[in-house]
Amino acid sequence: MAILKRLAETARSPVPFTLDGQACTALAGDTVLTAVLTQADCVRHSEFGGAPRAGFCMMGACQDCWMQLEDGSRVRACSTFVAPGMRLRTTPLAPDAVPGTLAAECAECAEDDAP
Ligand code: FES
Repeated sequence: MAILKRLAETARSPVPFTLDGQACTALAGDTVLTAVLTQADCVRHSEFGGAPRAGFCMMGACQDCWMQLEDGSRVRACSTFVAPGMRLRTTPLAPDAVPGTLAAECAECAEDDAP
């Protein structure tokens, strides 16, 4: 269930993105936070217990709105414009599934060392 409902400026150009694998549409000029919260009830689930988070300050100060993309990169949702083709996740990838992380490299080494 969406937290935000768009009431104005509905004529801006559509911007396609995905949220947890589902096709969604935002409008040009939306922040990631606006794009997601017009579709869902949170931007992420806390890594400390899984509670839903939806941002707090909306101005880049509190760090409550970091979201992960499917490639493992992260964006601060309240201060990043949504872009066509963004593939956003509300649940972070497991550390060993994020390319370029030490955990991912250790997992690769473990596979290489397996008998
Ligand atoms: S909502 Fe506070 S930094 Fe984004």
